[in-house]
Amino acid sequence: MAQRAKKSRSGYVCNACGAQQPKWSGQCPDCGAWNSIEETRAPVPPAIRRGGYAGGADPRVHVLSDVSPEQTVRAPSGIGELDRVLGGGLVQGSVVLIGGDPGIGKSTLLLQACAALSGHESVLYVSGEESPQQVSLRAHRLGLAAERIRLLAETCVERVLGVAAAEKPGVLVIDSIQTLFAEELSSAPGSVSQVRESAAQLVRYAKQTDTTVFLVGHVTKEGALAGPRVLEHMVDTVLYFEGEPGSPHRLVRSVKNRFGAVNELGVFAMTDKGLRQVTNPSAIFLSRHDRPVPGSVVLITREGTRPMLVEVQALVDQSPLANPRRVAVGLEQNRLAMLLAVLHRHGGVSMFDQDVFANVVGGVRVTETAADLALLLAVLSSYRDQPLPMDLAVFGEVGLSGEIRPVPNGPDRLREAAKHGMRRAIVPKANVPKGGVPDLEIQPVLSLREAIEGL
Ligand code: TYD
Ligand code: MG
Repeated sequence: MAQRAKKSRSGYVCNACGAQQPKWSGQCPDCGAWNSIEETRAPVPPAIRRGGYAGGADPRVHVLSDVSPEQTVRAPSGIGELDRVLGGGLVQGSVVLIGGDPGIGKSTLLLQACAALSGHESVLYVSGEESPQQVSLRAHRLGLAAERIRLLAETCVERVLGVAAAEKPGVLVIDSIQTLFAEELSSAPGSVSQVRESAAQLVRYAKQTDTTVFLVGHVTKEGALAGPRVLEHMVDTVLYFEGEPGSPHRLVRSVKNRFGAVNELGVFAMTDKGLRQVTNPSAIFLSRHDRPVPGSVVLITREGTRPMLVEVQALVDQSPLANPRRVAVGLEQNRLAMLLAVLHRHGGVSMFDQDVFANVVGGVRVTETAADLALLLAVLSSYRDQPLPMDLAVFGEVGLSGEIRPVPNGPDRLREAAKHGMRRAIVPKANVPKGGVPDLEIQPVLSLREAIEGL
């Protein structure tokens, strides 16, 4: 038995979803992708051999109450919005994965962070994608102080770790994980097994040496191919870059964080001098019309710990189709269909012969249910061609029986609205703070009908 376990294991892995298969086939049984399965002759991963990622130096069993909680040492990165999504700064020995579409700004952000960090930390930037000349060109363009950033163009993970062991950087940046390969594997760089093995070695290095490691991972057009998805469980923090093509705004969202809150949002704008922080996102996501327009409603949403004002727009138009279209950009499509049914049943307004388009301005994606009421009021406003007041802000979840349900952190949202010059708010009754909010006339509602009649 022991003899068997030592031998290298041969297996098959799907490059599209990362699923392990016992035998080769033309189509992956798990995700349905064609021609994506390849053989891996993976030795038993060293991580398992040596007893896990935490280093495995101490095999004693502890009593939890006897273990004193270690103070996590946090160092600010010098970029406030990045610190916000990291949960307050870089944690020593943590591994941060930054995913996003190619060209969205991952390298730019990390180079800027490196420059800011290099003042008080030693930084090693490993570029597998760009030559040192290209990185230097970028640093020049960004006007960064580059004299303390050390640069390595290398794609072999063993050699990267060899250099890192000699240089002992406090922060190690790998751009990108898809270009790295481990010598002991035969598959091509960027395949699932290579990406996993390279990441496993880097994670182990980070834990053993207390180095902060940033991994860049490209999301490919299929969404996940050998990309950040297969690494999410191995790293401490996962950040995703979002942004609409054509819009300068870039949102960095934390979707997993062992050292902080998830769903925290950092907002940047891409300029010709690199990424600029947007510390007051409400101001940029509200498009200021000079007069009220139908179909536009200001929503007070909340991303992570920060309330934010965004504009929800709807366009309702007579449909020439037998199946009218329901299109939602930045909002959930299914939820739009469901809300239209609620509007018909409990608001008495039917849209069965109307196309309905909904959009959140500025490329923001709103996933929380607090957007329901704002969306329905925008739809209604467009349908009736009646603008809502420009100083009105709205939030609230709409239930299937037409009730308006409270959402978390009502008072916070209302204060943000008042801060940005809103004078009226339609919100769920249970979200209204006892003392009210200065300068804000709050209209509490319990049902959709009440909200519609109150307009
Ligand atoms: P980059 O950081 O290279 O993207 P990624 O590493 O995620 O693939 O970003 C490149 C894009 O950003 C490119 O399309 C040009 C744009 N950009 C600017 O607009 N201004 C700048 O100062 C820089 C450096 C890049
Ligand atoms: Mg890049």
